[in-house]
Amino acid sequence: MWSLPGTRNNVAAPYSANATQRYGASAQFAHWLLALLIFALYIMGWYMVEIPKKTPPVAFWYNLHKSIGLVAVLPIVYLIWWRLSHKSPRLPATMPRWEISASKLNHALFYICLIVMTLSGFLESNFTKWGIKFFGYALPPVFWEDKNISDIFNAIHIYTSYLFIVLIGIHVLAALKHWLIDRDGVFQRMLPR
Ligand code: HEM
Ligand code: HEM
Repeated sequence: MWSLPGTRNNVAAPYSANATQRYGASAQFAHWLLALLIFALYIMGWYMVEIPKKTPPVAFWYNLHKSIGLVAVLPIVYLIWWRLSHKSPRLPATMPRWEISASKLNHALFYICLIVMTLSGFLESNFTKWGIKFFGYALPPVFWEDKNISDIFNAIHIYTSYLFIVLIGIHVLAALKHWLIDRDGVFQRMLPR
C-alpha cells in the first residue's frame, strides 16, 4: 500500500550524528506549523461547541476555527506535494519492520484525516446560512442551505476528529519513544540540525 517513488527500500545503516537523513527545512517548517494549527483547531473546536448557540462568542469562535482550518490547507497541500515528489529520508536499519509499516500506515491515515477534516468542515459550513467568514471577510456561499446535508458532513467531521486524535496520540508517543528510549535519531529527522 502506501508506497511512493523512492520509499520502498528506505532502510539505511543506523543513524549517525553525521548522517544527513533528515526532512528538509521546508518540510520541517510545514510539519511544525501544521502541528501547531492542528492543536489550536482541536482546542478551539472542543471549546466552541460548548458555548451556547446563537450568541456572539459562538460566531466569533466558529469563524476563527473555520479561518484557521482554511489556513491549515497551505501546510497540508505543501506536505502532500512534498511527500509525493520527494524521497522520504531513510530510516535506521535498527528499526523493526513492524514499526516501519506502522509508521507508514499512520502517516497515510494522517493525510486521509487531514483531507477529510478540511473538506468536511468546509462542506458542513457551506450548507448552512452562516457560511464562512474568513478572518471577518464573508466568503461567497458555494452551496444552498440544507441542514440534513450539513449534519452529514458535521458527523463526518466529528467522527474523523476522534480517529485523528488517536492517531496523533500514537504519533507523538512513537516520536517520544524514538527520542528518549530508542535514541536512534528518528525524532531528530524532524528537527533542524
Ligand atoms: C498534531 C499534529 C501533527 C501532524 C498532523 C503530524 C504529521 C506528520 C506527518 C504527516 C509526518 C510524515 C511526513 C512524511 O510523509 O514523511 C510526520 C512525521 C513526523 N512527526 Fe509529526 N505530526 C504532528 C505532530 C507531531 C508532534 C507533536 C511531534 C513530536 C512530538 C511529531 C514528530 C514527528 C517526527 C519525529 C516525524 C518524522 C518521523 C519519521 O521520520 O518517520 N509530530 N508528522
Ligand atoms: C484539520 C483541520 C481541522 C481540525 C483538526 C478540526 C477539528 C475540529 C474539532 C475537534 C471540532 C469539535 C468537534 C466536536 O464536536 O467534538 C470541530 C468542529 C467544527 N469544525 Fe473543525 N477542524 C478542522 C478544520 C475545519 C475547517 C476547515 C472548517 C470549516 C471551514 C471547520 C469547521 C468546523 C465546524 C463548523 C465545527 C462545529 C461543528 C458542530 O457545531 O458540531 N473545521 N473541528
